[in-house]
Amino acid sequence: MEHDIQRAQSLADKAERVLVITGAGISAESGVPTFRTAGGLWNNIDPAKVATPEAFAADPAFVWRWYDERRVQLKEVQPNPAHHALARLEAAKGDQFFLLTQNVDDLHERAGSRRLAHIHGKIWEVRCTREKTVREDFRAPLPEIPPRCPHCGALERPNVVWFGEMIDQDAAQATELFLSRCEVNLILVIGTESSFGYILDWAMRTRGKPDSLIEINPGDTALSPYVDLHLKGKAGEILPRIVPER
Ligand code: OAD
Repeated sequence: MEHDIQRAQSLADKAERVLVITGAGISAESGVPTFRTAGGLWNNIDPAKVATPEAFAADPAFVWRWYDERRVQLKEVQPNPAHHALARLEAAKGDQFFLLTQNVDDLHERAGSRRLAHIHGKIWEVRCTREKTVREDFRAPLPEIPPRCPHCGALERPNVVWFGEMIDQDAAQATELFLSRCEVNLILVIGTESSFGYILDWAMRTRGKPDSLIEINPGDTALSPYVDLHLKGKAGEILPRIVPER
C-alpha cells in the first residue's frame, strides 16, 4: 500500500491534465451517508418512493420531507481532508484540472474547489415546476413544505436528478469538453460504485494508456477490474498523502 500511495503521488504530481470523479464515499468521512453500502440511504428507503418524478407527483410533501431531512443533516457537516486535498490538486493544476461529482452536497465548493460540475444536480437549489427557474435556498429546515415559487406560486422541486431523468446536461457537456480539448493524463475515481454507464465511460476514457486510471475506494466496484491502481482505503486518509500540504 505504501508503495502504491507513493506511485499515485508521483503520477498526480507529474500529470499535466487531470480529471477527478467523485461519489458519495468522499463525503462519508464528513458524516454523510452513502447510497448502496451498509447503512446507505437506498438500504433504508426504496428510491422509487423519494427519487423519481412519479413519487414527487404522487406526494410532493413526502418527497420534500425526505430532502429536507438530508439538507438539515448536510448543514451540520464539514468538508474532510479528502475534499481539501482535491482543492489543493486544483490549485496546483489550474485549468488542467476538472472535477465531476455525483454528489448533490456542496462540500467540494466549501473546501475550495471551483472547476467542478454536479452531474446529479445540487441539493441547495430548488426549481420551479412551472417556470423551470432555479434558485438557491440554504434554509434547513425549510419554513414551508413543499416550497412554492416566490414568483408564480407553483410547486418547487429539489434541483437534483431523479431516476428516469436526464443527467445535468451542462455538467455532461463541461466534462466532455474537458476530455476532448486536450489529452488527459490521469483520471482519479474516488468513493463511487461507478454503477452508471456514463460514469464508467468517462472513467475509462484514458484506457490503454499505462498508469492513467486510479481508484480510491475501500471496496471493489464496477470500475475496479479496469484500473491501473486501486488504493483500497478511505479517501480522507489516502488523498492527503497523494496531494500533501506543501
Ligand atoms: P454509492 O453509495 O453507490 O457508493 C459509495 C462508494 O463509496 C462505495 O463504493 C463505498 O465502498 C465507497 N466508500 C465508502 N466510504 C468511503 C471512504 N471513506 N472513502 C472512499 N470511498 C468510500 O454512491 P455513488 O456511487 O456516489 O444518484 O452513487 C451514485 C449515485 O447513485 C448517487 O449520486 C445517487 C445514487 O442513486 C442519484 O440520486 C441520481
